[in-house]
Amino acid sequence: MDLYRKVAELIKSFKYLVAFTGAGISVESGIPPFRGSQGLWSKYDPEEFAHIESFLKNPAKVWKMIRDMFTTVLEAKPNTAHKVLAEMEKRGYLKAVITQNIDGLHQEAGSKNVIEFHGNCKWLLCLGCGKKEEVRKELIEKLPYPKCPKCEIPLKPDVVFFGESIPFSVRKKAETEVSSCDFMLVIGTSGVVYPAAELPYIAKIRGAKIVEINLEETPYTFSITDYFLKGKASKILSEIFTKLS
Ligand code: OAD
Repeated sequence: MDLYRKVAELIKSFKYLVAFTGAGISVESGIPPFRGSQGLWSKYDPEEFAHIESFLKNPAKVWKMIRDMFTTVLEAKPNTAHKVLAEMEKRGYLKAVITQNIDGLHQEAGSKNVIEFHGNCKWLLCLGCGKKEEVRKELIEKLPYPKCPKCEIPLKPDVVFFGESIPFSVRKKAETEVSSCDFMLVIGTSGVVYPAAELPYIAKIRGAKIVEINLEETPYTFSITDYFLKGKASKILSEIFTKLS
């Protein structure tokens, strides 16, 4: 039996499938990943540009990176991989998507139960009064940075920076899904950023089967992955989906 068919059979036989996704699933939507030669962190040092302390010290500098990243992210559209996951949820095969991505593309593709572990780029937050402003092109283009109209301090994207904690409610929801899951699809993540990277290990310890889809091996591949499908997320998910129907 080919591997796609095998995974499709497993999807049908297991009760609670959860997908855990990373930047790799959005690469085919034109959003660069973080690591690797084409990654955002090869252009911007994350310690300097994505740490909360850096934002508080020099928001104008950090906003240059945010503007660069958000311009691409806000124009991106869901690709086949996002759409297949949405369709799998609609047909009852997939229960939840836990994503490290902030691009909102799972929801745009139609996924309903999405847990955004690192937040969402659709909102800007005032660290003074807590008010949120919806992201608009004119707002992110404001130099040196958009400010809270009331407090006059720089707005921060409502995403998790290095040095910040994952909101408790988000962590709780993710851990509830992980404890329920008996089968996890790990798609397009290098699996190196914690605490997110811990989730597949927790699933495995609780007895879940792990299927990994990636262009390259990761720390999961030789430790917890049961089936490794090497290649682009859109092609592999489409193949699996064809065998499901
Ligand atoms: P990375 O950039 O670290 O890893 C992307 C992964 O996707 C790599 O393992 C690639 O091999 C794989 N990949 C690339 N294109 C693919 C494709 N078309 N199909 C399948 N796989 C593909 O991104 P993440 O693991 O998501 O956090 O990074 C985790 C966190 O690091 C991000 O959420 C962000 C970042 O710093 C914060 O900023 C808090």
